Amino acid sequence: MAVSQVILAAGQGSRMQSDLPKVLHMLAGVPLVIHAMRAGRVLEPARVVVVVGHGGDHVAQVVQAEDVDTHVVHQAEQKGTAHAVAQARAALEGQAGDVVVLYGDTPFIRPETLASMQDARASHDVVVLGFEAADPGRYGRLIVKGDALERIVEFKDATEAERAIRLCNSGVICAEGALLFDLISEVGNDNASGEYYLTDIVALARARGLTAGVVRCDEAETLGINTRTELAQAEAAFQARARAQALENGVTMVAPDTVIFAQDTWLGRDAVIEPYVVFGPGVTVENGATIRAFSHLEGAHVSRGAIVGPYARLRPGAELAEDVRIGNFVEVKSAQIDEGAKVNHLSYVGDAHVGAGANLGAGTVTCNYDGVFKHRTEIGAGAFIGSSTMLVAPVRIGAQAVTGSGSVITQDVPDGALALGRARQDTKTGLGKRLMDRLRAAKAAKTKG
Ligand code: UD1
Ligand code: MG
Repeated sequence: MAVSQVILAAGQGSRMQSDLPKVLHMLAGVPLVIHAMRAGRVLEPARVVVVVGHGGDHVAQVVQAEDVDTHVVHQAEQKGTAHAVAQARAALEGQAGDVVVLYGDTPFIRPETLASMQDARASHDVVVLGFEAADPGRYGRLIVKGDALERIVEFKDATEAERAIRLCNSGVICAEGALLFDLISEVGNDNASGEYYLTDIVALARARGLTAGVVRCDEAETLGINTRTELAQAEAAFQARARAQALENGVTMVAPDTVIFAQDTWLGRDAVIEPYVVFGPGVTVENGATIRAFSHLEGAHVSRGAIVGPYARLRPGAELAEDVRIGNFVEVKSAQIDEGAKVNHLSYVGDAHVGAGANLGAGTVTCNYDGVFKHRTEIGAGAFIGSSTMLVAPVRIGAQAVTGSGSVITQDVPDGALALGRARQDTKTGLGKRLMDRLRAAKAAKTKG
């Protein structure tokens, strides 16, 4: 059945004490709202609508960078969750099937949980995701009779007896789209908050003789972020889970607590991750590769048998083939490094292709930027780049070619050639010692006088 996804992200999140809209705060290297988008991907939504308000243009930019097809609708005034969902109506016009509503500030809903809600729709017209709260606090309470959900009562409107209920509303709701918007049009705001509650659609559905059901999940999944403290706690919870998962999958880490993961970090079996490694978004490390201590990787792919670091930096577009060596204080950006090539010390390789088995000496720099444009460097297979070679791009070094140490290479070097681009050495016999003797004598004269 076709599904659309609506993500509510209009709230300001005033308790974050931030100029940044709440849903753009980062968790596991990714903005909060992107977590909700990615969780929903399991449903293969035909359309995704994000409801924005505070900082709406900025939020729009981020969600469309994640997926250009994302629809963004603006909710100028936040009048409640039902009012927020109603803003998505036009964007979903003509869209058949179900609508799943998620919150942009609730990052841990598991894809499997959304899939079971989808399954539960086979037996209920409206499906709500609920959880047993350790401390139900101010959550909406789910009033159930047997298997059936009768209604949801918000904390502010609840009686003492209702407040004693521990089964709470996570906020995630699923129903057929046309029905959902029809029910929402009946929702009023005659309640303690003066808001249009999405939760009211349950009682409205029941009044029509329709059924509503609850899918239960773990409380940890429904964790919403409202403060910096909660954000930090959520990050800690994410990191703990990611480390445990990696160990379980066969990754070696001697100090897992020092390794930082991103939402989408993928590490293969028998990968070795040394202490204090930071993974930004978009990293895959294949089986048996080693990331040595104090390395920072983002948007990079490391193939089997490659060794990176210690103290290496892989930036977006770093693509390392099997058995590549990237050593200390080496930065790689937008560069394909072919099998067995070595860049072992103090180098910058950007906008480049390094052929198989090539060796880049210490201090090799691809001078890729002229101040306005970026240019590419091509290094052929088996080339040997002497230490401290400046490769002024665009430039091509042929296969098996060699550059002399300290060269500034501005012209292409053919296959197998030796290129020297430096001043010729001039040696004066005896002059070194004579010069030093004179300087020492001058110093001695000065201290005497
Ligand atoms: C809501 C639920 C409550 C549930 C709780 C779970 C309602 C009426 N109540 O309460 O049952 O237990 O979430 O966390 O739905 N938003 C908008 N526009 C609005 C209002 C809200 O986009 O006009 C967004 C917020 O940015 C937030 C989400 O919707 O991401 C939930 O809104 P919030 O005000 O936090 O609802 P709660 O009072 O927590
Ligand atoms: Mg809330």
